[in-house]
Amino acid sequence: MTAGAAAAQGSAAALRVLHVAAEVFPLVKTGGLADVVAALPPAQAQEGADVRLLLPGLPAVLDGLQALQPVCEVGNCFGALRVRLLRGRMPDSGLPVYVVDAPYLYRRGGNPYLRADGSEWPDNLQRFALLGWAGAHLAAADADPQWSADVLHAHDWHAAMACAYQAERPAPPAGTVFTVHNLAYQGLFAMEDWQTLGLPARRMSSEGLEFHGQLSFMKAGLKYADLVTTVSPSYAAEIATPEFGCGLDGVIRARGAAVHGILNGIDTTIWDPAADAALPARYTASRLQGKKACRRALQAELGLEADERALLLTVVSRLTGQKGMDLLLAAMPALLAQGVQFAIQGTGDAALEAALRAAQQAYPGRVHAYVGYDEARAHRLIAGADAILVPSRFEPCGLTQMYGLRYGTLPIVRGVGGLRDTVFDLDEAMRPGDRGAGSGTGFVFHEATPQALAQAVQRAAALKGDAPRWRRAMQAAMARDHGWRAPAREYLQRYRALVEGAGAAQG
Ligand code: ADP
Ligand code: GLC
Repeated sequence: MTAGAAAAQGSAAALRVLHVAAEVFPLVKTGGLADVVAALPPAQAQEGADVRLLLPGLPAVLDGLQALQPVCEVGNCFGALRVRLLRGRMPDSGLPVYVVDAPYLYRRGGNPYLRADGSEWPDNLQRFALLGWAGAHLAAADADPQWSADVLHAHDWHAAMACAYQAERPAPPAGTVFTVHNLAYQGLFAMEDWQTLGLPARRMSSEGLEFHGQLSFMKAGLKYADLVTTVSPSYAAEIATPEFGCGLDGVIRARGAAVHGILNGIDTTIWDPAADAALPARYTASRLQGKKACRRALQAELGLEADERALLLTVVSRLTGQKGMDLLLAAMPALLAQGVQFAIQGTGDAALEAALRAAQQAYPGRVHAYVGYDEARAHRLIAGADAILVPSRFEPCGLTQMYGLRYGTLPIVRGVGGLRDTVFDLDEAMRPGDRGAGSGTGFVFHEATPQALAQAVQRAAALKGDAPRWRRAMQAAMARDHGWRAPAREYLQRYRALVEGAGAAQG
C-alpha cells in the first residue's frame, strides 16, 4: 500500500506534508515567498498535520537551523561530489527541516539565485534540479527511512522539479502540489543540458518541460503536479490569460480545475502592532495613540518635516518592473506639490534605486528613500506611515498591503491579483461578497498610469482630512483577519482530497 493510501485509510493518522522551497524567513529571504514558507507549514502543524520542510544547504540555512544531524549520505550527484541529507529544526517554530547539504552547489553567500553582479549562477539547473530530486526521494522514504510524505508541496520554479521526479516513479507515493508564487520567474535553462536532469527524453517535449526551445522548471510544476495553486484567487484567473500568463497561459488553461487560488495569510505574531518590539510605541485598534508616536518618531528618524497634516506614504518593496515604481516616480512631483510625504525602502533595479536617491536629494524633508534591505526598519515604516502604496503592474498576492491593514496603515493599491482580493475601496460601491457597510479598507486604482495612481493618493489625502472617517477606516482595516489559519485549513482540505482520491483510485 502506498503512503497516500495508508493516510486515506487511517483517518486518525496525521497527514504528512513535505514543503520544498529555496528560501524561508528569517534564514534566507528575497521576497514574500520566504514569509509564506516560514508561516504556512507551522500553521498546518497547528491543525494537526505532520509538516516538514526541505531546503538547500545555503550557508545561512546551515548556520541558522538548530540541532542539525546527518540523516543519510546521498553520494555524488548533479555534479556535486558529496551530497548529504541533514535534519534540524527552525529556530522559532521548531518545525522539522531537512537540508540538502551539497557544499559545491550551495555553500555560497548572498542571494540564493544570483551572483553578486546580478547574473544567475551558471549551475542553477544542477542546484535546483537537486533540490527537487531530493524532495521526491525524501517524500518516498528513500532518504529518511523513518519518514515519508503523503503530500509533496513544491514552491515556485526552484522546487518545481520535485513534481517531475515524482511523476517518473511507477506508483507515485505522494500527491504533489505546486504553488506558483510568481509566474514571471520561470527557471529557464539550455535544452542541451537536459541529460543532466536524469529524466527520459520524452519529458523534454512540448508536452513536458520544453518551452520555446528551452527547459522550463516552472513548466515541470505546472504540468506534473496533481494540484497547482497560486497565492490569490484573482491571480489564478489572471494567469490563465495572455496578459498575465507569461506565455504559459495555455498550459495553465489546460490544467482546468486543477488550478486554484488560495489567498496567502500573514504572520500575525511577527506583524502585530500591539507587541512589535521594532516600534518605538505599540498600539491597537482601540488605543491608537501609539501609532501617532510611531509616526512622529519616523519623521524624526528619516529627517522628514514634522508635518501633522501631510499624508505620509510608505513603500517597502523590491524595485522591479512588477512593482510599478515607475508610476510612482512619474506621479511624485504632482503629489509633493499637494503636500504628500514619502518614506520609501527598497532594493533592486539600479536605475530605480538611482531615481529614488535623486528624488530624496531633490526634495529633502519630503522624500526619504532608503536603498537597502532592513526588516526592523520595514516595521517602523509600515507602523509610522498613514498609508502604504503598492502600485504593482501584476501582483500574485502581495504581503505588504496586508501588513498595512494590520497596522492601520491604509493600502493604496492597483486593483490586480492579490491586491484586488485584499483591499476594498473606501469610495467604491461595495463589491459582491463584501461584509456589510463600512467594509472599505483602502484605495484601489485600476489604470496603470501615474494619473490614476495620483488620483487614488489624492483621495487618501482628502480622507485623511476627515479624522473620524479616517479613524473608522483604520479600525476596519485592523479588524480584517489575514492570519494563516483559514488558508492553512484550505490547503489541508485540498491535500486530503488528493490523498483520498489517490487511495480510491488504488483501492
Ligand atoms: P514580493 O515577494 O513580490 O517581493 P511581497 O509583498 O509578497 O512581494 O513580499 C515582500 C516581502 O519582502 C515583505 O515581507 C516585505 O516587507 C519585504 N521587503 C521587500 N523589500 C524590503 C526591504 N527593502 N527591506 C525590508 N523588507 C523588504
Ligand atoms: C511572490 C509574489 C508576491 C507574493 C509572494 C508570496 O514573490 O510576487 O505577490 O505575495 O510571492 O506568495
